[in-house]
Amino acid sequence: MKEELKNIITKLERNNQKEIVNLITNVYSDEENEKIASQIERINIEKVMSLYNNATIIPFVDQSKIEHIKYTDLSSLKEEEFRAYKDLGEKIIKSNKYAVITMAGGQGTRLGHKGPKGTFKINTVNGEKYLFEVIVNSLQKANNKYGVVIPWYVMTSEDNNDQTISFLEEHNYFGYSKDKVKFFKQGQVPMVKTDGNIVVDKNKLIKEASDGNGSIYKSIKRSGLLEQMKADSIEWIFVGGVDNILLRIVDPVMVGLTIKENNMIASKTVAKRNPEEKAGVFCKLNGVPKVIEYTELPKAMAEEVDENGKLRYGDINILSHLFNINALEKLAEIDLPYHTAFKKSDYLNENGEVVEVSEPNAYKFESYIFDGFSFFDNMSILRVKREDEFAPIKNATGSDSPETAVALYDEYNKKYNK
Ligand code: UTP
Repeated sequence: MKEELKNIITKLERNNQKEIVNLITNVYSDEENEKIASQIERINIEKVMSLYNNATIIPFVDQSKIEHIKYTDLSSLKEEEFRAYKDLGEKIIKSNKYAVITMAGGQGTRLGHKGPKGTFKINTVNGEKYLFEVIVNSLQKANNKYGVVIPWYVMTSEDNNDQTISFLEEHNYFGYSKDKVKFFKQGQVPMVKTDGNIVVDKNKLIKEASDGNGSIYKSIKRSGLLEQMKADSIEWIFVGGVDNILLRIVDPVMVGLTIKENNMIASKTVAKRNPEEKAGVFCKLNGVPKVIEYTELPKAMAEEVDENGKLRYGDINILSHLFNINALEKLAEIDLPYHTAFKKSDYLNENGEVVEVSEPNAYKFESYIFDGFSFFDNMSILRVKREDEFAPIKNATGSDSPETAVALYDEYNKKYNK
């Protein structure tokens, strides 16, 4: 056995990876061993095992440390404030200091569409449109208004990167300047079975899965895009999801408000419908901004109202974020916490047989973009109207489905874009 393979086996044994060790020593051919060995060399097995060891520990949130976060309601801004923010933001956009990142590395499992979510087609009052096309249309509208071409960066995953690029190539980027579009891949982390063995896929390699949208910070740096943005004098970067067809990706008011408030990050929110709505809300935890999951917010707090009778923790995260370039630079150096999801994953057992499962059996590790907010003392929160900016496509049917989202999109467009 080659020296490198022996070292790999020692490393695996140290981390109790009995199944892979058996595959390597008793089942795989030399060629198969070479392939898995080169994969293992670039994986930090110790780190993966520490994620596994923490997988079942439910993060403790000290409720006594949760406070309300201040927000600005767009609809109650005074005319002169609105103007001042808008002017300031427009200056940034017109001087080519604004860029947009679309996070499109998700798996879209709930929607069940084959292929990247951005390639999903909807039928709207403005005709048939792909989700990527909806985004390009918003960018083009802003470009025409401000006389610029806003750089557009798309975060993909190892799984959907090639398909995403060829889709946009085939559709000629929906008319966008190709040289202003860049792609970067997010990271991956191996999945681990409940028994502590790393999942080996039927392709005989370790199964790595996308590590969540919090991957964005390190991935833009790793891909060289952060340096590129700095070289291009980009100062403010909007980051949004791929699946909200009313997402306002170029909003000077958001930029202006954030600058005036002297913050480096901002998020738009919509008012929570009722205490029971299953959505993460903004708050302050230990004095810093935080998105708290509905599962972690105690019922009494979820129901608490302020002096105006509005929910005290009523600002829903709609994945509409703004960052100063310096904030992204800082976050690229920070290791965000990982959250654990329990998933079904077929695997290869230690004898090389494929095992199909019908129940969740493995942990998937993800970091979330909003966990980055807690590394700042403050952030701007701009509350907007739900019907104007939030029409997500998450599920195939029912709530947050193509049907509900298109209805909202059509309503909005009939009202404002006649
Ligand atoms: P969601 O959390 O809704 O996940 O992503 P999803 O993958 O689209 O859908 P489900 O949960 O599998 O049904 C919110 C946004 O974050 C992006 C998604 O592409 C979407 O724009 N995302 C999510 C990533 O870019 N990478 C990830 O690893 C996860």
